[in-house]
Amino acid sequence: DYLLADAAIVEHTFHVGNLSVQRLGQSQVITAVNGQFPGPKIEARDGDTVVVHVVNLSPYNLSIHWHGILQRLSCWADGPNMVSQCPIRPAAGTYTYRFNVTGQEGTLWWHAHVSFLRATVYGALILHPAAPSSYPFPTPHGEATILLGEWWNVSVVDVERQALLMGAGPNNSVALTINGLIGAGGGGGSENSSSSSSSQYELAVQRGRTYLLRIINAALNYELFFKVANHSFTVVAADACYTDPYHTDVIVIAPGQTVDALMRADADPGRRYYMAAQVYQSLANATYSAATTALLTYLPDASGSDDEQPTLMPTMPAFNDSATAQSFYASLTGLLQDGVPLHVDTRMLVTFGLGATPCASAQTLCNRTLGSVAASMNNVSFQLPTTMSLLEAHMRGAPDGVYTRDFPDRPPVMFDFTGDAMAANRSFMLTSKGTKVKTLRYNETVEVVLQNTAVLGAENHPLHLHGFNFFVLAQGPGNFNAHRHVRKYNLVNPQQRNTVAVPGGGWAVIRFTADNPGVWIMHCHLDAHLPFGLAMAFEVEDGPTPDAVLPPPPPDYPRC
Ligand code: C2O
Repeated sequence: DYLLADAAIVEHTFHVGNLSVQRLGQSQVITAVNGQFPGPKIEARDGDTVVVHVVNLSPYNLSIHWHGILQRLSCWADGPNMVSQCPIRPAAGTYTYRFNVTGQEGTLWWHAHVSFLRATVYGALILHPAAPSSYPFPTPHGEATILLGEWWNVSVVDVERQALLMGAGPNNSVALTINGLIGAGGGGGSENSSSSSSSQYELAVQRGRTYLLRIINAALNYELFFKVANHSFTVVAADACYTDPYHTDVIVIAPGQTVDALMRADADPGRRYYMAAQVYQSLANATYSAATTALLTYLPDASGSDDEQPTLMPTMPAFNDSATAQSFYASLTGLLQDGVPLHVDTRMLVTFGLGATPCASAQTLCNRTLGSVAASMNNVSFQLPTTMSLLEAHMRGAPDGVYTRDFPDRPPVMFDFTGDAMAANRSFMLTSKGTKVKTLRYNETVEVVLQNTAVLGAENHPLHLHGFNFFVLAQGPGNFNAHRHVRKYNLVNPQQRNTVAVPGGGWAVIRFTADNPGVWIMHCHLDAHLPFGLAMAFEVEDGPTPDAVLPPPPPDYPRC
């Protein structure tokens, strides 16, 4: 347990390599850390320094991202491939990530940030308060990490390669996982299966006690509903930012997001309960509705008659229940009410979604009318540089050919969601490829209206910003309208997050202060959408004082 002590150094070594595991009756070789799946849990306290030595023994290029860590003055340790670093090479390439935890408490996670490797290269990153149990809520009796993921029976790198070659979405995973395990309902989507799988995750609780569930959506492509039969939750944090207590019996969580929820063990201790995760999709024609389960049991397990009473299954929302999803997100407010910037220096309107680039003349697999599928922000389909990382180029004064500083503040064509999308917005869909950044002065305040265009499918896109927590001032369906929606802004106690699920054909408004020098990518956390180009980057200049200047890269910084 955590003793009150001075800030410490939390040190880990990650050996990343092949691991053979059994799932769904098959043996599968995956990429994993230290022979564990999910990977090791890192626990630190606010104020600690985290040091992770990564040794890449896998056959793939690798980098690790510490999702949600602010990386104040340590952008070199952020991790996205070709943004903050070149990859750590196979055959025992190494890099040491080093960063301070400053002013952050709650649940975050780490994951590979190259190709689809994060399907299996991920783990929890738990930030405890500096003083033991100084939570802004009654200290729980215990806690449990719930990592939600997806499973493929084939190499995930092949899944991504095939998706890019086809210019289409990736093949569906065959199952959802909870803490790496596939329970009842896994793969089949049957919610009522009473056959309990012996391999599923099990959480044992004591009646009358309260547990802090640290729920992480590490899935590649699906927003999820999470419930526990006969139990309800009090949400106390999201993305490691405290919330006002919010009571609910369903958690809604998008890829990249985390939710800290208190759960009181107050049900009949003679029964067993399923916890269940199930896909949520706003696409009207979605067909994938997988679910999986884990077990909640009471100690001491005195029932002794497990087979006589069926395990209770929660009633899940319909897979396309957008009302439940939107009401969950809109109900979260921030507990700590400091720091909402009231003056805005830079306003941006960023439209994003799947669109198309014109077919190249030699391109055969391309629709001549619509072009080839490309995701974009403000009609720019983001391309990673190839010769050096964006951050290294930034440090060298932006040499020609790595990136340009002309990411537009507004889309080239005003978008109208209410029109005949395919006809009226054809020009809107046409994108160009580029590596464009938006340059911000140190401490500039920025407001970004994120408009999900949903021209191709009304899909939610979870947008994740590296290096910052942002305030979510408002969100809603349809077109953002400045006149109507500005008065809906919550400037009193908005929730802070690092990942916002922008509704399909809807919008969200975020605001943050650019107080962290470096290059920070903002991208869709549906994994296929990053290589499709649904990304852009902010370049934040150094500030005027030494404590606002990004130091030089560490000596072992990977170069291309
Ligand atoms: Cu969790 Cu850029 O990712």
